[in-house]
Amino acid sequence: MTTTDQPKQKKVHIETWGCQMNVADSEKMLAMLKTENYQLCDTPEESDLVILNTCHIREKARHKVISRLGVLRELKEKNHNFQIAVTGCVAQAEGKQLIQDSERNIDVLLGPGKIDELPRLLKEKVISGKPQISIGFRRHEEQLEIIKEQASLAPTESLAGKNEVSRFVNIQQGCNNFCTFCVVPFTRGREVSEHPNQILDNIKNMIATGAKEITLLGQNVNSYGLDLVERGDITASSSGPFYDILSKSLQVDGLERLRFTTSNPHDFTEDLANLYRDNPKLGRYIHLPVQSGSDRILAEMKRKVTLEEYWQRIHWLRDAVPDMAISTDLIVGFPGETEEDFQATLDLVERVRYSFIFAFKYSSRKGTAAARFKNQVQDAEASSRLAKLNAIQNQITIEENEKECGLTREVLFLYESKKEPNVWYGRTPHFRLVRARSERQLAGVTAQVRILTANKTALEGELI
Ligand code: 5AD
Ligand code: SF4
Repeated sequence: MTTTDQPKQKKVHIETWGCQMNVADSEKMLAMLKTENYQLCDTPEESDLVILNTCHIREKARHKVISRLGVLRELKEKNHNFQIAVTGCVAQAEGKQLIQDSERNIDVLLGPGKIDELPRLLKEKVISGKPQISIGFRRHEEQLEIIKEQASLAPTESLAGKNEVSRFVNIQQGCNNFCTFCVVPFTRGREVSEHPNQILDNIKNMIATGAKEITLLGQNVNSYGLDLVERGDITASSSGPFYDILSKSLQVDGLERLRFTTSNPHDFTEDLANLYRDNPKLGRYIHLPVQSGSDRILAEMKRKVTLEEYWQRIHWLRDAVPDMAISTDLIVGFPGETEEDFQATLDLVERVRYSFIFAFKYSSRKGTAAARFKNQVQDAEASSRLAKLNAIQNQITIEENEKECGLTREVLFLYESKKEPNVWYGRTPHFRLVRARSERQLAGVTAQVRILTANKTALEGELI
């Protein structure tokens, strides 16, 4: 082949919104496109393809997509032509309507369960001139087959385009829980777990390209693998398949830290808590979403755990690791939430002393059970509760961070500040963000750091 026969080098720009699952999906799409001679680029202006990988968890997502598509259209008119693909949960939920509303400005529309079809549909669009859509879900076996076929396309390049130190590995798609507020089971379908061998290969690939920290991802990681056990594809120990994959991942050579998210308290076991005691690589931090401090609201949300059971999990964890840092997700203004229910949430936050929280104002999602509930809370009331909750937590976060001053912590450094040269950011085992100065390149380096000062978002320290 002469050089003129080489397929043209193309460029893709990817915008990823929402959860880490979307980051992992974006990286998967990038890996697929690389086999089609695409390279990642930073802006739509230089691209042949723009991917908007969207999130539908709360309202406004759709408006955001439409407004971004408007900006891209103007760019196309002024600048040059590029293809546009909309993927992720808004694509799944809005389907054809989105193509119509964007005045056919979308070339390919893909649900999260169909991203493997991206390269084929991009070509199909060029040939047929018609927008290509693939949404919905495959049967469990079919989806497993696709996951297997894609195993050789394990993402080796992170979205940042560098071999980043901290990478995500998807272990499970979908969710079977149907919490009454949540759109995820509708946009991402039922749970399908990846085979343990594939997960371990993915981790090894990422370590080989520079990763030191891996985060295993799923909507409900604690129920990982139950589908594979049921199908007879794998067997599990008495501690369950998630415990088993964590134990195996911990043994991968070169892995320094292993995290996982999201853990559902419902399936969280004492064995898992004890795994932290015996494995410093798991760190001393967990994200354990509770959503509300009121038993009545938890039941309305169909979270399947009582507050007493949630506390039991916290005790397991803090018995195993006394200074365990815990974060959570909370929703305020869920339909029917009274002042008393909200007060129960504030009490929980003050008692657990989370290291940080993600607090959200309830957002009604079409198709979910809670969207049909009566007595929706007034928006102004929900906003005021959100502000109050955040103010209380901010104070706790500051106090907990200030307790770090004077201590020496082992920090895994991740990246250099974009604005300040020689300023490096990393995390402690408790997942606290640390800033430190060094002339030496620190990305990927684990070092002892003495903590000097602290604020709400980060600790400032010096290398020892
Ligand atoms: N409204 C507000 N917050 C929501 N979340 C999920 N669905 C909704 C909704 N309809 C929050 C939950 C979840 C996090 C990812 O997003 O707290 O844990
Ligand atoms: Fe949504 Fe509940 Fe599943 Fe989490 S566990 S993704 S909140 S349905």
